[in-house]
Order: sequence, then C-alpha cells, then structure tokens
Amino acid sequence: MSLETPALLRDLDATDQRMRALVLDLEERDLEVPYEEGINPPIWEMGHAAFFYEGFLLRELGDPTPRMPGFDDVWDSFRNAHERRWGDDAVPDRQATLDYYARILDEVRERLAKPDVGEREAYLCRYGIGHQNMHLESMIWCRQTLGYPAPPGAVAAPQSNDPATVPGDVEIAAGRYPIGMPPEGFSFDNEKPGFLCDIQPFRISRTLVSNAEYLEFVESGAYASPQLWGLRGRRWLRETEAQHPLYWRRGENGEWQCRHFDQWIELPPSAPALHVNYWEARAYAEWAGRRLPTEYEWEAAARGPQGRLFPWGDTMASGCADMDGTALGLLPVTALANVAAASGCIQMIGTAWEWTSSPFLPYDGFCVDMYPFMSTLQFGDHVTTKGGSCATSSCLIRSSYRQAYLPGRRDAFTGFRTCAR
Ligand SMILES: [Fe+2]
Repeated sequence: MSLETPALLRDLDATDQRMRALVLDLEERDLEVPYEEGINPPIWEMGHAAFFYEGFLLRELGDPTPRMPGFDDVWDSFRNAHERRWGDDAVPDRQATLDYYARILDEVRERLAKPDVGEREAYLCRYGIGHQNMHLESMIWCRQTLGYPAPPGAVAAPQSNDPATVPGDVEIAAGRYPIGMPPEGFSFDNEKPGFLCDIQPFRISRTLVSNAEYLEFVESGAYASPQLWGLRGRRWLRETEAQHPLYWRRGENGEWQCRHFDQWIELPPSAPALHVNYWEARAYAEWAGRRLPTEYEWEAAARGPQGRLFPWGDTMASGCADMDGTALGLLPVTALANVAAASGCIQMIGTAWEWTSSPFLPYDGFCVDMYPFMSTLQFGDHVTTKGGSCATSSCLIRSSYRQAYLPGRRDAFTGFRTCAR
C-alpha cells in the first residue's frame, strides 16, 4: 500500500460526503438552475467530477471502456460548452447521475484498497480529489449566486458588532523567500518549479480589509470617483454602474445589509469585505494611499523565510482557518490570531481568496501537467489570488497554491489586504 493511500482514502471519503450532501439537500426544482455565466448546474458538477476520475485514472490505468456510454460529451467540460449544460435533457437526472458517480467512486476506492498502489496511481488519484474539491467550492458559490440556503455543515459564526480594530501592519524583512513547490511530490503545475525570491522590505496589513473599512470607502463616494479606478477599472464601473459590493444593499431604514446565501443580514462590520473584484480592491487601496501585495510578497508574508506550507506550520490542522464551508466568511477579521503566520498576518489561509497585484503567469521552467487546462487557459488575462477562501477545502489548499480569476469577477469568495506604499 502506498504510504499516501490512507490519506487519499480519507480525503476521498470526506470529499464524496460533502458533494453528495450538496446535491441531496436541494429540492428537485432547485436543481433546475437558471443560466448564469459563473456557475454550473450542480448535477453537471457531480457527473463531471466523476468523469474526471474515469478519464484520467480508471481508463488511463485500467479498463478503457466508458462507464456511462454516450455521455463523454456531456461530462467533459471541453467537449460540452458551458451554455449547453442547461435545459431539459442537457444532463441525466439526479438519480442516474448519483448512480454513475457512486459507481466511479467505488471503483476509485477499490483501486486504492489494493496493496500495490503505485506512485502514478496515487498521483492521479490526488489530482482527481483536488479537482473534485475545486468543484465543491464552485458549488458553494453557486448557492451564494442563486440565493440558495447555505451548504450543509455551515455553522453560525460568532459575530461581533464592534468594528474590527485596525491592528495595523507587520514588517516583512528583506531576504530570500521560498516561492512555489519543488518539482517532485504533488502540487499543481502552476506552483512549479519553486524558487527563491529576493524580497525587498515591505509592510502588509495583519488582517483582511473588513466590511467596516470597506464601508468607509463606499460612503466616501469612491464609486463615483473615477480617478481611483484606473482605465480598465473605470470601464468596469461604467459598464456595471456598480455602487457597492455585489451582495450589499440598504435596508428600509437606510442600514447596510449583505446577502449571505438566502438571508439578508445586517452588514457585519468586523467580518471581511467579500465578493469584491480586483478593480474594487485596487481602487480601495488607491483611496487608502496603499497598494495590493504582489503574489511573491503575499507568499513571503504567509510562509516566512522557512517556507512553511501553512501559516501555523507544515501540516494542515483543524480549527486553524475558516474553510470547508463552515463559518463562511462571517468570522471577524481579527479572529484566529492565535494561529497567525510567524509574520503576524491573520487568516492568510481560508476566509477569502486574496487579490494580489500580479497577473497570473507561469513560473520560469513551467511544464504543463497531465491535465493541460489546469492553468494554461488562465495565463495572461487573469489575476493571481492566494490563500483559499471559506469555501475552499482544507485538503486542497496550501500557501503556495495559486488561483486565478478574471479581474472583474466578484461572484467567488474574494477579498484582500493591502500594503503600505
Ligand atoms: Fe473541472
């Protein structure tokens, strides 16, 4: 048995349970999802996650026969254009998809239970689990987009009505900091090959920007101040006529509220500003006389000169971050200070994908992995975000992980922190 097999089986089971729960707790009518650019029908996500194991692991290393004949063109994201995943008969019904999904996952488990799981097999399996967890996150933001109930397993987070005290910046010393991952072992292609990066000294905020801080920016008239937004930011502002973050509104008495899944709640001042795009993050930084960190600066602040994989150490630990769809971005930005990075930065893992100022580009020596579309389609026009969000899975994330979003995107769980100029 491969040394990693028990961890793979554990992560596969946890992932399986969460995906089933996300599909099973929806009413039949809620499975008929209206078309939106940033989401997929939940049933398609489930079949597609199973198909990924089938295509890259089961057929590749074993029997090449399709397990659901005639449906490759449905489940394969590159053969089934996004807009074709909607409508009557676009995907099989829930039960047929669940049956297919269960059969595939059982086959994966059978392979992992064998005593001679090879390195390649373990790698492909880890990849499939990672891929499925990326889709778990998009299933959670799909619920936020549609105003569906919070995912099963969400817990009411302690809310504080005190505006988060601004704990200021930490100083990151000049030095050579490890960035990315070594070529050997498991990580995604865009994290490799790792390297040492010379970083100049800089100051970065301990916490994410809170709702209270962002509200000041909104109420200062920033959305009507084009000079803060830059050329492309101004174009976005003009096209959308945005006046505040996506899920904010004013209540009947003029108080600010935000939509948290199917609930409109009073804007929690000490929680992080979420669902803001790159243009909003950049304009805020401009207004505050600050700037966004580069992705290397962010990684140096999270990992330190020792290059730890997580702010608190080298292994994932429960209770150290808002992730796995539990507190869902409602913790105060000052919470979890006891497991801050050695630099003093809080909540660098989980809570919000943090915008950086860096375009998403390959590292020198980049080699495309077995799944050629993991990164290559996003190089160039996307912006790097770091750290994972409240909807990201703990078995997926690490400080070297790079996620890329288009700069105008604000349906995902994105937030930011800033640096002194
Ligand atoms: Fe996918």
